[in-house]
Amino acid sequence: MADFLSAYSIQTWLESCPQGYLEGTRFGHLPGEKEPEPLLANDILREESIRTTVQLVVGERCALAASSGLINAAPDEASKRFLATQTLDEARHVEIFSQRLVDPGVRKEKMEDVIRQYANRNLVKFAEVLLEKVDKKDFIAGVVGQNIVLEGMAFSVFEMMHALNQQLNPKFAHTLSGTIADERRHVGFGENRIGSLIKEYPERRPEIERMQKEMSYYMLATFADAFRNNPARDEFRRLESALVENGGSAQWQGVELATMEPEEMETVLATTVLSEFKTRLGRIGIEYQSPARP
Ligand SMILES: [Fe+2]
Ligand SMILES: [Fe+2]
Repeated sequence: MADFLSAYSIQTWLESCPQGYLEGTRFGHLPGEKEPEPLLANDILREESIRTTVQLVVGERCALAASSGLINAAPDEASKRFLATQTLDEARHVEIFSQRLVDPGVRKEKMEDVIRQYANRNLVKFAEVLLEKVDKKDFIAGVVGQNIVLEGMAFSVFEMMHALNQQLNPKFAHTLSGTIADERRHVGFGENRIGSLIKEYPERRPEIERMQKEMSYYMLATFADAFRNNPARDEFRRLESALVENGGSAQWQGVELATMEPEEMETVLATTVLSEFKTRLGRIGIEYQSPARP
C-alpha cells in the first residue's frame, strides 16, 4: 500500500506531469508550433482532422465525467486523491483537443454544434455504457470501464495517431505524447487498485465482463466507421506516399502504417487494443469476453 500511495500521490503527479513532461508546453505542444499548411489548405483533410478531433473531445469528456464522478464513489482516500489528479488530466485533455478544433477555424460559439454534428454514434453509446455505472456510484465497474477499457483504447489510439503524425504533423504529435504519458498513469492505477477489490467481491465479475463486452463492441464499431469508407482516404494515401518517397516512415506495433490500406490499419488497431484488454483484465482477475464483430 505504501508504494501505491506514493506512486499515485498528488506530489508524484506534480513532479512528473505539470513540472515534468508538460513544462514549457502550451495546449500540450511547444509554443509556436502550428498545424501544417497543407492540412489547413486542403478542405477534405481539414474536415477530416475536425471529425477525428471531435471523437477525441467526446472520449475525453466521458473520461472527465467518469473520473470526477468516481471520486465520491471511491472507498479509500488515496484513490480519491488520485482521481482528483486524473480529473485535472482529463479536463486538460478536453481543453487541448477542443483547442485543436479552434486552430483549423472552428469558431468557439459553433463548437457544440460541430461536436454534435461529427460525434460518432457508436462512441457516444460506448460512453453511455460507462457513465451508467458511474452514475450508480459503482466504483469497481466504473474503474474497470474507465481505467482499463476506455483508457486502454485511448492509449493505443493515441499511440497509433502519434506514429502517423510524428513526421507529418509534429504539433499534433507533441499534443498526443503528453496525453499518452497521462493515460499510461491512469491505466496503471486501474490495474493496481482494482485487482484486490475484484478478489474481495468476486460476485461482481459477470456484470463487469458484460460491460467490457458491450463497450468493446461499440469501440470496434467506432473503429469501423473511422477507417472504412473514410472520405479522406485518397488524400491520406497521397500524404503517406509522399512521406515514404521522402524517406519518412510511420512505424507502430512492428508494421509500417504509411504503406497500409485503412482496413489493414483498422485490423492492427483492433487487434492491439483487444489483446491489451485481455492481458490487463487477466491481471485483475476478469475474464476477457470477445465482442461481436461489427
Ligand atoms: Fe484522457
Ligand atoms: Fe485518462
